[in-house]
Amino acid sequence: MLEQRRILLIVAGGIAAVKVPDLIRRLRERGAKVRCILTKGGANFVTPLTLAALSGDKVYTDLFDLKDESEMGHIRLSREADIILVAPATADIMAKMAHGLADDLATTALLATDKPVMIAPSMNVMMWTHPATQANLATLQSRQINIVGPGAGDLACGEVGDGRMAEVPDIIAALNRFFQKGNRQGPLARRRALVTSGPTYEPIDPVRYIANRSSGKQGHAIAAALIAQGCDVTLISGPTHEPVPDGVTLVKIETAEQMLKAAQAALPVDIAVCAAAVGDWTVENPAPSKIKKGAKPPTVKLAQNPDILATLSKPGSKRPRLVVGFAAETNNLIKNAKAKRAAKQCDWIVANDVGTGTGTFGGDHNTVHLITADGVEDWPSMRKQAVADRLAQRIALALNGKPQS
Ligand code: CTP
Repeated sequence: MLEQRRILLIVAGGIAAVKVPDLIRRLRERGAKVRCILTKGGANFVTPLTLAALSGDKVYTDLFDLKDESEMGHIRLSREADIILVAPATADIMAKMAHGLADDLATTALLATDKPVMIAPSMNVMMWTHPATQANLATLQSRQINIVGPGAGDLACGEVGDGRMAEVPDIIAALNRFFQKGNRQGPLARRRALVTSGPTYEPIDPVRYIANRSSGKQGHAIAAALIAQGCDVTLISGPTHEPVPDGVTLVKIETAEQMLKAAQAALPVDIAVCAAAVGDWTVENPAPSKIKKGAKPPTVKLAQNPDILATLSKPGSKRPRLVVGFAAETNNLIKNAKAKRAAKQCDWIVANDVGTGTGTFGGDHNTVHLITADGVEDWPSMRKQAVADRLAQRIALALNGKPQS
């Protein structure tokens, strides 16, 4: 997948820059061509000479080097690449990207580019979770910038938590997925879908939350099945233990509000499948610090969450062509599911019984009924992946209007 791919690697100033020599080596082993821009900060952690030796190319460092500008200016640098990879992406460079600042060669190339961009964030956990960084991340995500990592673990600063740059194999896997996407074939090639999956977490205070038993198995399986049909899929997922299907663009969220924002940022799409078990309620005023036990239990006041399926289904220019919802019911399955389809204005409802003893939540099997404008189809009990495959095939059929071989 990486053979002959031209990667413009921007190395910013974080301790994870020490992983960059290994990254370059692995990329070149796979046939990729790597050219580096090293920021001033990055040069504190890795030398231009190391990067030049490993990449086999000149390393670019200074915007105002006349010789460089005449040989290979920032515009050409940013255009003669198939992708720009920023690794490590510090909080500073993310902020500059989000706000369009261009005060050095790296940020100027990023602003001047017409090429896809991938970032591998790396920073201290407090910097990563700071609302400013998270807002910048949301801005970058809404501009379709690809994000890989960060992971959780020991940080160089001695603290533990999110913020550790994705490991080299994970960055390579993300690049592979990215390039695979462009080569997709199948009945849903050149179609875009968003899939919501998993539970939502609604915080009560920084350590407690309200959640549900959704495992994300069905939603993740649908994302994988759509990918297999050639579709470009954004998977918006609450916290789950499910492996991320190869090739999806993953957006991790916790609350219903965040899920709605991510879904709206993923528009326009042809297909929306809302398989997430979105919490109906959020806590009106989550406590900013841990609630102490005290003599009496606290009262938690709930407020209504936005309905993502109903919001996406509203008529309008951005409405996906096909909106599919789920109905999780414990009784009057078909009647309630039909009522949900009408109330939320979606095109299809996949109705499933989640009553005690059905094993649907967390289990590997599902018995569903597909409710469309034409009526109700009863599907036999199947593995969740088989339900997903059949649903993806039905979606392809509906969008293409002819049977797929
Ligand atoms: N859904 C949503 N946003 C919400 C609640 C639900 O997008 N805030 C979506 C789910 O992803 C699913 C469908 O709506 O596709 C139905 O979810 P379900 O939990 O069955 O229904 P609710 O609307 O929550 O109604 P109730 O809990 O009363 O059955």
